[in-house]
Amino acid sequence: STAKLWGGRFSAQADSWVDEFGASISFDQLMADEDIEGSLAHVKMLQKTGILSPEDVQQIVAGLESIQADLHQNKLHFTVENEDIHMNIESILTDRIGPVAGKLHTGRSRNDQVATDFHLYVKKRLPQIIEEIKTIQKTLVNLAADNVETIMPGYTHLQHAQPISYGHYLMAYYSMLKRDVERFEFNQKHTDISPLGAAALAGTTFPIDRQFTADELGFSEVYNNSLDAVSDRDFALEFLSNSSILMMHLSRFCEELSMWVSYEFNYLELSDKYTTGSSIMPQKKNPDMAELIRGKSGRVFGHLLGLLSTMKSLPLAYNKDLQEDKEGVFDTVKTILPALRVFNGMLSTVKVKKENMYKATTHDFSNATELADYLATKGIPFRQAHGIVGELVLKGLQTGKNLQDISMEEFKQISPLIEEDVYDVLKPEVAVERRNSFGGTGFQQVLAQIDRARTELAE
Ligand code: ARG
Repeated sequence: STAKLWGGRFSAQADSWVDEFGASISFDQLMADEDIEGSLAHVKMLQKTGILSPEDVQQIVAGLESIQADLHQNKLHFTVENEDIHMNIESILTDRIGPVAGKLHTGRSRNDQVATDFHLYVKKRLPQIIEEIKTIQKTLVNLAADNVETIMPGYTHLQHAQPISYGHYLMAYYSMLKRDVERFEFNQKHTDISPLGAAALAGTTFPIDRQFTADELGFSEVYNNSLDAVSDRDFALEFLSNSSILMMHLSRFCEELSMWVSYEFNYLELSDKYTTGSSIMPQKKNPDMAELIRGKSGRVFGHLLGLLSTMKSLPLAYNKDLQEDKEGVFDTVKTILPALRVFNGMLSTVKVKKENMYKATTHDFSNATELADYLATKGIPFRQAHGIVGELVLKGLQTGKNLQDISMEEFKQISPLIEEDVYDVLKPEVAVERRNSFGGTGFQQVLAQIDRARTELAE
């Protein structure tokens, strides 16, 4: 036998560089807390079911609690020889309380242990992420409320399309984040299930009580099938997928932010607290944080594809491949939590250059639809009206004239039905205000969205 915890049937020891390759302690020590919690629940169950004596359990609990206290003071030392967090903790426990530590692993395997730790880890982080998203939603709603009547060009194909309210634009992102919250909330359902007691893959002959450990750990459910319990990583995939969609949303906003603070757009200015200078160009104020959030979406998408690829074709039940499930999830948590906080800081300190946004809508043809609609209300079929206005735009582009610059006389030549009120209709703010169909950019509709959002956030 060898010195390993499982060394009984081995006569030769792996070289240390092979051990290094197989070890996960360098990253799964992030679940040390969860591992101890899981062990405490398990050993209490072993006492409750009479599998272990109260004296043994008392010693094990005291040992685990002393390890927990040292963990919180950063006093534990982990080794690669002990491979992963589970065996490291057990080895430390053995050092502290002697051979009775060996009873802790009764009726349990590292396979259900690691799954339990991982579920606990994700379960704890989901509410934190949801809170951070809601903070951004509140910022968006407040900023939208200040900008219901801020007029800006709305884009399709990045071309001026129709004028919109900046508040309306912001509320679009509110809606995206609302779906993100719902996705992370649903993520809880598949995370909140206890694999503990599935043992290696097939359950155990010991009269364990899986409901007891689930209750101890705060899980709402217990996995129904032991094979599924040790090999399911859907909850992690859902987490990575939800995180990817969230980061995709933030990246879109950050892309627009970066454009809009540029000289060419000049719609927004970011606070000095969320921008950086250049080591060579003294004038520079770069939207680094926005770019970095946009850039970090890439690593999160990568983690999703990484785990999907690891899971593809994986036979039941546990395989060591599954050890690859953790780093991407840990890195995703480490990426999205600060990204959400920085995003919120950036958004809540942004300066909106309302006049510039408005100005961008006054020398363009984004009121062309207004004129076509106006002609249509005068009885000209919309298709024909579209053609007429198209020709006016073409002519205007050649002569440097916008639609509002066309004289009444010229209008009358197009149709005698056109009246003085056309000039009002062509104003961007009027165009926005009148788009009062449900969910549209009309001021009333934006206010209604803000009202609904405030009710949702208060729930
Ligand atoms: N370090 C392993 C992991 O992260 C723990 C489970 C190991 N089980 C096994 N039979 N090798 O997946």
